Amino acid sequence: MVKVGIIGFGYWGTNLVRNFNLASNCRVIAVADPRAERLIQLGRLYSHIKGYKESEELICSKDIDAVIIATPVSTHFELAKRALLQGKHVLLEKPMTSSVMEAEFLIDLAKQKGLLLMVDHTFLYTGAVAKMKQLKDLGDLGNIKYLDSTRINLGLFQPDINVLWDLAPHDISILNYIIDEKPHSVNATGITHTSNDIENIAYLTINYNSGFIAHFSCSWTSPVKLRTMLIGGDQKMILYNDLEPTEKVKVYDSGYNHSKDQDKKKILVDYRTGDIHVPKLNTNEALLEMANDFVSCILEGKEPKSSSKIGLEVVKILEASDKSIKHSGREVILDIQSEEIHQSSNLLTN
Ligand SMILES: NC(=O)c1ccc[n+]([C@@H]2O[C@H](COP(=O)([O-])OP(=O)(O)OC[C@H]3O[C@@H](n4cnc5c(N)ncnc54)[C@H](O)[C@@H]3O)[C@@H](O)[C@H]2O)c1
Repeated sequence: MVKVGIIGFGYWGTNLVRNFNLASNCRVIAVADPRAERLIQLGRLYSHIKGYKESEELICSKDIDAVIIATPVSTHFELAKRALLQGKHVLLEKPMTSSVMEAEFLIDLAKQKGLLLMVDHTFLYTGAVAKMKQLKDLGDLGNIKYLDSTRINLGLFQPDINVLWDLAPHDISILNYIIDEKPHSVNATGITHTSNDIENIAYLTINYNSGFIAHFSCSWTSPVKLRTMLIGGDQKMILYNDLEPTEKVKVYDSGYNHSKDQDKKKILVDYRTGDIHVPKLNTNEALLEMANDFVSCILEGKEPKSSSKIGLEVVKILEASDKSIKHSGREVILDIQSEEIHQSSNLLTN
């Protein structure tokens, strides 16, 4: 039995408490949130769970084996560091941390202490993403040429992070999970329409040495909500629409062949439009699958599907996108090939 404490009982923390309550071999012991009204709500919904105003009391509780952190991203690093130093396994909400240095430090600390550090990239546990990975791994799509994602709506303007840090972690984690090749570089542009420097519309391109390309469009200022992703192979292409109630993934047997004409001056393109297949998807709640993965990885010492390595790669891409935005879309080379964890021991003394 793994006894967990959850820090942050806001929008997402409420979903985490509900799902960890249902997870196998797990008991939610405590929740911490500084807002009194949230603790009153906790008491109404779950009278058996202890509420703390101070997260430190939860982290230091001897009754707790694992700490789940669902607070604003600027607080993730300090809370996770304190929990790991107290010998607790940690699940961090996405995005893992505000910087690559912080993420690398936490991975290193968890390794030293022999503790699990996992990041909740919930989409990796959906039936849709599992199916898309299966189709790609079976070679049904052929060689993958592009991934194009749109995640826009009239969204909550976040006070501490821009729209890419808020929305793109979902799509970047899906990209990194499905595509084995490591990215080479990013270009990003964005704009703020408010008086702060926080971009509310942004476009991110991730470049690969093979010629595969990935593009992400994120906005908090769209009148309609769109959650679509295209994955194009040279055999078949996928349209993933997360807002569809059941037919979220459609596989198009469409494509094109190209050749040169006889004097090799013109490109000749033949188009092919075939059947559309709608695969059956697993409809289990993704958050419950994620909670079960966290608990079983603690009990069995396994590597989770949504590992801290994927969490770090997402933060590397987001940090590089910030640099690119500041330089009007200039290409920023990524350092994702290296498995090496850089020591950043100065953070331990803070
Ligand atoms: N995996 C997903 O699909 C998903 C979806 C939504 C949000 N999230 C992530 O969850 C996290 C929280 O987002 P949210 O939308 O629930 O925000 P929220 O503002 O609704 O809730 C955050 C809660 O944390 C509390 N809090 C703030 N600082 C704290 C501290 N130091 N100690 C204890 N509690 C503290 C706040 O009082 C608040 O109740 C973010 O990292 C966000 O990116 C993930």
